[in-house]
Amino acid sequence: MTKKYFIIGNPVSHSLSPKIHNYWFERNNINAVYEKKEISENELKNVVNDIKNEKIHGINVTVPYKQKIIPFLDKLSDLAKKTESVNTVYKSDNMIVGDNTDIYGFKESLINQNIYLKDKIAFIIGAGGVVPSIITALKDLSVKEIFLTNRTFYKIEKLKIKYPELQLLKWGEVTNFDIVINATSIGLKSDDKINIDFDNLENHKIFYDTIYNPPVTNFLSKAKSDGHRSINGKLMLAYQAQKAFQCWNNLLPNLDKKFLDFIKDD
Ligand code: ATR
Repeated sequence: MTKKYFIIGNPVSHSLSPKIHNYWFERNNINAVYEKKEISENELKNVVNDIKNEKIHGINVTVPYKQKIIPFLDKLSDLAKKTESVNTVYKSDNMIVGDNTDIYGFKESLINQNIYLKDKIAFIIGAGGVVPSIITALKDLSVKEIFLTNRTFYKIEKLKIKYPELQLLKWGEVTNFDIVINATSIGLKSDDKINIDFDNLENHKIFYDTIYNPPVTNFLSKAKSDGHRSINGKLMLAYQAQKAFQCWNNLLPNLDKKFLDFIKDD
């Protein structure tokens, strides 16, 4: 029987995950198919039920349900608990388990680019669903300081309760940093601009955008022309998928050059 996997969220039309997982299913001779499912919040319960009944064998969860799915699950991995963010769900020992592979995805995307952040300063923009995973990853990587800003300030005040070491900046304020990470949705549309002034920085900072479509947001394009290093969210996506695939199939798929070429232009 063909196993079924889905990415659930709203919207999901842009998602590259089906392309990635179907490629790995085929390469590893696994009889399974991965599709997109755009759902409303009241359908979350049914989807989890379908995993219980083994109509569905696993799901990835994206915006805006990474936290909202938690009440329907039986068990969380330590990382999912820590971040209150679930992007991967499966059934194990008759329980529906929620895991977080975004932390792995973010960390591995940096390691793959030979970026080492020990004792460096990180600056995160945004307070959305992926931010607790990025904070957790940066802490694992032993950064010296994490600054955080968001248009709506109270959301980062809430994050500081959980992560007291965070240093909060008002929207528009800039600090000295080694890496700045856009974790907002600004950039998904081609005319989107982050109204934070990054002129007058020393050269060779790292600008990281969690967005991968479009591949070069205005945030990254300006960074490039100012002589900084730019990285989009494609590798993070690929590595979080790699770990999710392992959760479901007990097999870490290859993330080799052929695979990266395969997803390069999407
Ligand atoms: P969710 O919160 O559902 O996980 P998200 O897309 O992951 O959604 O996060 C949205 C992020 O993008 C938030 O940090 C949001 O800022 P607010 O908390 O102030 O809403 C940010 N964002 C989206 N559009 C923005 C804009 N035009 N200007 C500034 N920040 C924006």
